[in-house]
Amino acid sequence: MSTHKEVKRITTHTLQKLKLKGEKISMLTAYDFSFARLFDAAGIDVLLVGDSASNVMAGHETTLPITLDQMIYHAQSVIRGIHHCLVVVDLPFGTYQSNSDIALASAIRIMKETGAHAIKLEGGEEVVDSIKRIVSAGIPVMGHLGLTPQSIYKFGTYNVRAKEEAEANKLRNDARLLQEAGCFALVLEKIPATLAGDVSKSLEIPTIGIGAGPDCDGQVLVMHDLLGINTEFKPRFLRQYLNLHESITGAVQQYISDVKAKDFPNEKESY
Ligand code: KIV
Repeated sequence: MSTHKEVKRITTHTLQKLKLKGEKISMLTAYDFSFARLFDAAGIDVLLVGDSASNVMAGHETTLPITLDQMIYHAQSVIRGIHHCLVVVDLPFGTYQSNSDIALASAIRIMKETGAHAIKLEGGEEVVDSIKRIVSAGIPVMGHLGLTPQSIYKFGTYNVRAKEEAEANKLRNDARLLQEAGCFALVLEKIPATLAGDVSKSLEIPTIGIGAGPDCDGQVLVMHDLLGINTEFKPRFLRQYLNLHESITGAVQQYISDVKAKDFPNEKESY
């Protein structure tokens, strides 16, 4: 007897099949129960509990300050909201770079304490040993190349990466190494579309692009950007599907004015 509800869940193998079929993968960030439930019910393939929570949930300038405990809290909330999508959780800055023992311990904490299905970490050759250890422990790993926000102080800007041949070649090599190390997918962030297309074609595992053009095997956006909650952030790659900033501001202003005018609550809204 199974104790699990019979729902068709998306797994890392589903993503591999989607790539083979040529069907694009949809991925979006989520950080809490309510949005995760909405996105899952809408049919999203993958939810990423991104360390962008540091920016959009906690208001930090970079992704560096968020802790493993805080990522675990967000991931636990997301997991409670989903029934079918794959949930991937970022290992935050400082929880995997020192050595592969620490990386494995961080990944195990995420899997054990949240019920998530995979972890993501940033970097190429320098994190290959950690990826191998984590994958050997049975934990699926998503890689992340190109603009890796945890290295923002090394890059100095959020500009497009790998425009020069040397960096493009390193990225091609890193992508191959990550696939060989056992990654099930790779995020490619803010790199030229032609490079992302070449890498996607050369790999067996799917690539998920953000600011990396149409030829990746899937696309990811930060939910606050897609929904138009952040109006200050308008990079070229972003398609904003809603203007929630305007809708929410309007709704809250209307509420304030109804309260001040003693219009809310009315008789029907009272006991
Ligand atoms: O943390 C995040 O939201 C991410 C995506 C931008 C890919 O890593």
